[in-house]
Amino acid sequence: MSLAEIESLLTSEQHRADTEIVAMRTLNDLEALERSLLGKTAPASLVKAAFKDLDTKERPEAGKALGAFKHHVTVLLDARRQELAAAAAAQRIAEDRIDVTMPSRPRPLGHAHLIAQVREELEDLFIGMGYEVAEGPEVETDFYNFEALNMPASHPARSMWDTLYVDLGDPGEVLLRTHTSPVQVRVMQNRTPPLAVVAPGRCYRRDTLDARHSPVFHQLEGLVVGEGITFGDLAGTLESFTRAYFGPGITSRLRPSYFPFTEPSGEFDVTCIFCEGSGCSVCSQVGWIEIGGCGMVDPNVFEAVGYDPEQVTGFAFGFGLERMAQMRFGIDHIRAFFDNDVRFLEQF
Ligand code: PHE
Repeated sequence: MSLAEIESLLTSEQHRADTEIVAMRTLNDLEALERSLLGKTAPASLVKAAFKDLDTKERPEAGKALGAFKHHVTVLLDARRQELAAAAAAQRIAEDRIDVTMPSRPRPLGHAHLIAQVREELEDLFIGMGYEVAEGPEVETDFYNFEALNMPASHPARSMWDTLYVDLGDPGEVLLRTHTSPVQVRVMQNRTPPLAVVAPGRCYRRDTLDARHSPVFHQLEGLVVGEGITFGDLAGTLESFTRAYFGPGITSRLRPSYFPFTEPSGEFDVTCIFCEGSGCSVCSQVGWIEIGGCGMVDPNVFEAVGYDPEQVTGFAFGFGLERMAQMRFGIDHIRAFFDNDVRFLEQF
């Protein structure tokens, strides 16, 4: 083998190294390639045996060429070995990865009860009209629930409210309020006119449960007192409130009625939302649904709280929140509000 032959063999082996080393995909394949390039029986190793046949002057040159070849190939092999080792390590890490995240247990978020939502919406509506929100106790005395409201003991109108009494104080003295009207008295005792308040709250009556009556229910009371307040203000207030709450197309009307604490008194109806006034089974074909009672505050009530009926006038109204919600959302039985069945409550 001449020097030229040795050099050309090394050149072609180097080409092979250049193309094949980078193409190796595994450390095993790379090792096999390394053996075929630098191992004992590799062509580059076999040329060494031919050195002794070379001219002495040519031997160092052949040695240099072989050294350069080995160095070049070793550098490429090391670089590729590192790449493959890093890739193998990365793959092992990816394969060994254990997902320790646990399936989460979602906690359903609750929300306010429909009656609470209706109450808040109505409060907002009246606050927007300049009212304040007032509250009073659910356990009341005969004085606030009846007497100060122009119903002295044994007044026949007391039978309008089937009262639940509490076994406390004198017989008949302490009771569960049958309406929110006692809050009118408490507010007026503590304030001077002019005033405009709404008082939402729970009420109780010895009523048998039916589609529209429940022994526990909620009312919203309204009271406005000042100089020159008229029945027209009452009617206008109820009409704006009706439109704001039920939307356009629903309107209110007043019918003469009687309450001991208002004079004149009225019941106020709104257009039946189910038939929009044309008459249906819900409204007994009249096109209107009764919402609550109202009227001009009776002078005797003003006297009971120390207001001068010659100085001030006022109006009051009270309606049931369940009835409002039933109307607004088409709920046929009042019991749904108290059963606390989440399948019902979730819908609102
Ligand atoms: N308190 C009356 C009731 O429960 C409603 C009402 C309130 C009437 C205010 C007139 C004025 O039936």
